[in-house]
Amino acid sequence: MVDRDTLPLQYGPWALITGASAHTQTLPGTGEAYAHQLARQGFNLVLIARNAQHLNLLAETLHNKYGIQTRTVCVDLTDPDLWHTLKPQTIDLDIGLMVLNATYTASGEFFDVSIDAKQQAIEINCTRTVEFIESFGASMKSRGRGAIVIVSSIAATYGQRNYSMYGAIKAFQQNLGEAIWSEFRQHGIDVITALPGPIKNANFRRIKTHKQFFAFGVEPADVASISLAHLGKGPSVRISAFAHGIFWLQRCLPRRIIVAVVERYIGWLYRS
Ligand SMILES: NC(=O)c1ccc[n+]([C@@H]2O[C@H](COP(=O)([O-])OP(=O)(O)OC[C@H]3O[C@@H](n4cnc5c(N)ncnc54)[C@H](OP(=O)(O)O)[C@@H]3O)[C@@H](O)[C@H]2O)c1
Repeated sequence: MVDRDTLPLQYGPWALITGASAHTQTLPGTGEAYAHQLARQGFNLVLIARNAQHLNLLAETLHNKYGIQTRTVCVDLTDPDLWHTLKPQTIDLDIGLMVLNATYTASGEFFDVSIDAKQQAIEINCTRTVEFIESFGASMKSRGRGAIVIVSSIAATYGQRNYSMYGAIKAFQQNLGEAIWSEFRQHGIDVITALPGPIKNANFRRIKTHKQFFAFGVEPADVASISLAHLGKGPSVRISAFAHGIFWLQRCLPRRIIVAVVERYIGWLYRS
C-alpha cells in the first residue's frame, strides 16, 4: 500500500524529472507541476531540460518555497553524449522516483515531416525512455524500492492524422509502461503510465484555436496529482473527461470511425 504522505521515505529521497523547465509565469508546464508536487512532499529534485535559465529559476523557487535540495542538468535528450553528462551528475544520488515527461514531436502530414524530426521523436520518447528505465530502474531494483511515472497520452490509443509519429511513440510508452508495471512489482517498484487528454499549458499558445482547445484541457497540476495518486494502483491512468470520452468511444465504435472522428477534429483545429 502506498502512503502518499511519506513517498520520499518509501521510495528514496531524490526524484528525477525530465522536461522540468518552466514555460511562462502564467501557464506552468507539466514537468514543472510534477516538480512542485514532489517538492511539496519533501523530495529533493534532479531537474532535466535544455533551458538553463528556466531550470535554475524553478530550482531556486522550489528551494526557497519547500527547503529541498535541487540539481539542474541542462541537456538535450537527443544529444548522443547524454549519458556522459548525466551519469556523473546523478551517480551519487539515491533516486527513488522518476518522472519521464519530456517529449518532442513534429506535426504535419507524414511526408512533410523530415526523417530527422521523426528520428528525434523516436529518440526522446522511445530510446531515452528505455535508457532511463534501464539505468535508474536498475538502481531501484537493487534497492528493492522505487517509482516510475511515464507521461504518455490518450493519443497513444488511436491513429491521429498530422500527428502520426506522436500516436506511435506514445503507444510505445504506454505498452512499455504497462508491461513493466506487471514485471517490476516483484522488485518493489511501482510504475504508472499517465494518459492525459489535452493539457492546458504553454504549448496551447502555439495552437491558433487554443481558446476552443482549452475547453477540453486538463490542468498540468491535475496530471501530476492524479498520476502520483495512482502509483501502486494500476498499469495506466486516463486523465480528463476528454481521455475518458475517447476511451469509451473506442469501446463502442469501429477503429475506422474513431480515426475518422479524430481526423475531423484535427481538421477543425487546423482550419480555425
Ligand atoms: N500538451 C498536451 O496537450 C499533452 C497531452 C497529452 C499528453 N502530453 C504529454 O505530457 C508530457 C508533457 O508535455 P507538455 O506538452 O505538457 O510539455 P511540458 O512538460 O510543459 O514541457 C516539455 C518539457 O520537455 C522539455 N524538452 C523538450 N525537448 C527536450 C529535449 N530535446 N531535451 C530535453 N528536454 C526537452 C522542455 O524543456 P526545454 O525546452 O527547456 O528543453 C520542457 O521542459 C509529454 O510527454 C506529452 O507527450 C501532453
